Amino acid sequence: MGYRVAVVGATGNVGREMLNILAEREFPVDEIVALASRKSMGTEISFGDATLKCKDLDTFDFTGWDIALFAVGSDATKVYAPKAASQGCVVIDNSSLYRYDADVPLIVPEVNADAIYGYTKKMIIANPNCSTAQMVVALKPLHDRARIKRVVVSTYQSVSGAGKEGIDELWDQTKSIYNPTDNKPPKKFTKQIAFNVIPHIDVFLDDGSTKEEWKMVAETKKILDKNIKVTATCVRVPVFVGHSESINIEFEEFLDEHEARDILRESPGIMVIDKRENGGYVTPVECVGDYATFISRIRQDSTIDNGINLWCVSDNLRKGAALNAVQIAEVLGVRCLKKG
Ligand SMILES: NC(=O)c1ccc[n+]([C@@H]2O[C@H](COP(=O)([O-])OP(=O)(O)OC[C@H]3O[C@@H](n4cnc5c(N)ncnc54)[C@H](OP(=O)(O)O)[C@@H]3O)[C@@H](O)[C@H]2O)c1
Repeated sequence: MGYRVAVVGATGNVGREMLNILAEREFPVDEIVALASRKSMGTEISFGDATLKCKDLDTFDFTGWDIALFAVGSDATKVYAPKAASQGCVVIDNSSLYRYDADVPLIVPEVNADAIYGYTKKMIIANPNCSTAQMVVALKPLHDRARIKRVVVSTYQSVSGAGKEGIDELWDQTKSIYNPTDNKPPKKFTKQIAFNVIPHIDVFLDDGSTKEEWKMVAETKKILDKNIKVTATCVRVPVFVGHSESINIEFEEFLDEHEARDILRESPGIMVIDKRENGGYVTPVECVGDYATFISRIRQDSTIDNGINLWCVSDNLRKGAALNAVQIAEVLGVRCLKKG
């Protein structure tokens, strides 16, 4: 016997990937339903070899459904996640709404799978921000070996992190650059994204940082270790899929770059591609469709006593969202719900 699974936001970037990954990983599904807004009712969505017809989230009854994978943004999540949970369905949510709620576990299975048991408090489990997910996968095994004191991270985040509208804006604006009569001013982003970079993701906070940067700080503490200091600069770049990060790590103990490389090679969810030659590293276009968090450019930071620099790339729609959500569902199934 398998699970009855609802994919909420099934017409979106993350929702479609969740369906792909459930099929690819042969998640034990007895019945699956694709949900989105009323305007998408009847829209056909692929699930492996099958085609699902989208249903209206607003009128859907979650009673008797085991797991709902949510990818609809915070406003819709606020309305429908508590409804699903109160009808006895465990919600795994991609929005930021519940990530900082003490009664909701925030999980990256390679890092803190044991937090899963906390789901019973609200019947909700949160998926982290895409930039945090890939970073903590890289940090965890190094933290276990040499205790991380401080992380300085700069991100290079793709437009798919801003949903369907983000992808459309980069596509349309790029074409319009070659056709001056077809002007496409910024709508989703705050400045031109085609052939440009924008050092601003999510809203500004009082201290001058952005909410996206704050999320990386708060989520790393909740998932990995509250004592780790993180400072982040989050930047949107004209890449369709795949987030990249330059990460500088300061440890309590000395960690040699060769040992760091060996540790990362052996760690779950990580693929090390690190040759010191032309092309001996991973770029975002190469990570698309993959499950791994790719690590390259591992090297000593000789400006501090115990420092390592590295480059970290992952498919933000997969490890940053859909894959991580399905991995959480797998842990939930095996450890808690025990069907399938
Ligand atoms: N993209 C990433 O890298 C990433 C990473 C981590 C987390 N997330 C989070 O995942 C969520 C989804 O992101 P996305 O990139 O997939 O966005 P998206 O491509 O814009 O898709 C949004 C989805 O939500 C549905 N939706 C929106 N409002 C709804 C409502 N009121 N009722 C029913 N359905 C509604 C849309 O349905 P219609 O098509 O019918 O409008 C669509 O299926 C967001 O919370 C985002 O922050 C995204």
